[in-house]
Amino acid sequence: MSPAKEKAFYLTTPIYYVNDAPHIGHAYTTVAGDVLTRWHRQRGESVWFLTGTDEHGQKVMRTAAQNNTPPQDWVDRLVETAWKPNWRALNIANDDFIRTTEVRHTERVQRFLQGLKDSGHIYAGKYEGPYCVGCEEFKLDGDLIISNGEKLCPVHSKPVELVNENNWFFRLSEFAAPLLARYRENPEACQPESARNEVISFLEGTVQDLSISRSTFDWGIPVPWDTDQVVYVWFDALLNYATAVGLGDEPTSEGGKKFAQTWPADVHLVGKDILRFHAVIWPAMLMAAGLPVPKKVFAHGWLLVGGEKMSKSKLTGIAPSEITDHFGVDAFRYYFLRAIPFGSDGSFSWEDMSARYTSELANDFGNLASRLAAMVEKYCGGVLPLPSSDAELQTVLSSTVEKADASMCALDFQGGINAIMDFCKRVNGYVTEKEPWVLAKDPGKKAELEGVLYNTAESLRALAVLLNPVMPQTCEILWQSLGANESIGSINDQSISKVATWGQLPAGSIIQKSAVLFPRLEASE
Ligand code: MSP
Repeated sequence: MSPAKEKAFYLTTPIYYVNDAPHIGHAYTTVAGDVLTRWHRQRGESVWFLTGTDEHGQKVMRTAAQNNTPPQDWVDRLVETAWKPNWRALNIANDDFIRTTEVRHTERVQRFLQGLKDSGHIYAGKYEGPYCVGCEEFKLDGDLIISNGEKLCPVHSKPVELVNENNWFFRLSEFAAPLLARYRENPEACQPESARNEVISFLEGTVQDLSISRSTFDWGIPVPWDTDQVVYVWFDALLNYATAVGLGDEPTSEGGKKFAQTWPADVHLVGKDILRFHAVIWPAMLMAAGLPVPKKVFAHGWLLVGGEKMSKSKLTGIAPSEITDHFGVDAFRYYFLRAIPFGSDGSFSWEDMSARYTSELANDFGNLASRLAAMVEKYCGGVLPLPSSDAELQTVLSSTVEKADASMCALDFQGGINAIMDFCKRVNGYVTEKEPWVLAKDPGKKAELEGVLYNTAESLRALAVLLNPVMPQTCEILWQSLGANESIGSINDQSISKVATWGQLPAGSIIQKSAVLFPRLEASE
C-alpha cells in the first residue's frame, strides 16, 4: 500500500457574490490568502488554496432580473469576464475555483442535507422575521437600526424585508454549548482576539435554530425531499469549503482521498462581517454531520471609505485595476498587507500608497537591487566575486527569517513584512557605511570591495525569497538579475528554512541589470 499523502495546509477565502464585479475589499481577502499560501508553499509544505463564487440566492437573482438576464447566464458571464480574470491579473495562485452552481457542489450539498435530515437535525417550522437581502441574513431585531421609523440593516443601510414562510429548520441551538466550550478552550480556533470574544458573547446569549430553506423563489439548490423549497444560500455557500474537496465521497475515490488530505481546513479567511456564519453556523453543521471542524477562522477588518465599509452597493467600490494600472500588481499586493494590521479596519488613501511606494518599494528595495547590479558591472565586469561574509548581516538575517516566519504563520502580515523590510533597510545602511565607491578607488582594498558586493548580493538573494510570496513578479525579475535560476534553481523552490544559510550565490554568477523594479510614478491628474 502506498503511504497516505501528507495533510495539506488547506486555506479558503469566502466565495464572493457574483451580483457585481470585484472591488479592492474582495481583493484584500484573496491577496492575503494568496500570500499566506505562497508562504506555506515556500516553507516546503503541501498546500491547497481554494476560492470561488457564491451564485445562488435573492441578491444575485434580483441583480440578474434587473439586467433582464437569466441568473445562470448572469453568473456565467460575470465569473468568466470579471472574477476569474481579476484573480489572474492579481497573480493569485489558487489550486481550485468552486462555483456553487456546479454539479460537483449541488449534488454534495443535497447529500449532506439529506444526511442531516435522516439523523434528526432538521425539522419543519415557520419563520417570521426580518431579512436583509444584501447580507442574505435572517436578522434579529437587536441587529437593526431604526431610521425614520424604518428598520435598516446596519451594514447596507437599507430597509430589511419581512419574511413569513414555512421552512425547514436546522437545530443550531443544540450546538451552542459545544461551540462555546471549543472557543473558550482553544484561542487559536477564532482569531483575532476581538473576533473570538464576539463569538463567545454571541454563544453565551440565546442561540436560535436556523431556517435553512426558502420557498418564495427558486434560484437555489432544491431541498432533496421537498423540491418546492431551495436551500438557504448561506447553508449552500458554507458547504463549498467541503464540497470542493470531495465531501461525503467514498474514501477510496478521488474525492474521498482529496478530503482525507485536506480536511479539516487549516484557515478560513473571512471579513469580520461574515464571522458568525463561519464561527457558529458552519462548525455546527459539521458537528451535526460528525465531521471535524476547521482549525481556525480568521476575521480581518474592512477597507473603509469615508469611515464606512467599502461596497459596490454604496457606490464606494474601487476596482483593483484602478490601483494596479498606476502602481502595478505587486505594489497593490504589498500595500494593504503592509499598511493595515490584519484584523483591524483601514482606509485606503492614494497619498499613503504613493508615499510607501516611493520610500519602501522604489527607494529601499528597488534602488538596492539596481545599485548592486550597477556596482558589480562597474567594479567586477558584471561577475559576482568570491563568497564573503559579514557576521552582523548574517545574525540580523537569521533573526529576520525567524520573526517573519512566526508572524506570517500567525497571519500577522504587517509584522512579517516589516521584519523583512527592516532587513532591507539594514542592508542599505551596510552599503552606505561601507562606501564601496570609495573602496573602489584604492586598489589595495579590492578584496574588501568585493566582499561588500558579495554580501549585498547575498542579502538581495534572501530578500527575493522572503518577499516572493508577497511580490512574485518583482522577485522573479530580481532572481533572474542575480543569475540565481542558473546557480541555485527556481525561486519558488527556495525554502524559508534555508534562506539564512549564507553563501548560496556562487562566485562567477552573472549579475545583470534588470528593468527598474518600481518605476517612478507618473504624476496622476
Ligand atoms: N458570499 C458571501 C460569503 C460566503 S462564504 C461561504 C459574501 N460575499 S461578499 O462578496 O459579499 O463578500 C465576501 C468577502 O469580501 C467579505 O467577507 C470580505 O472578506 C471581503 N470584503 C468585501 N468588502 C470588503 C471591504 N470593504 N473590506 C474588506 N473586505 C471586504 O459575503
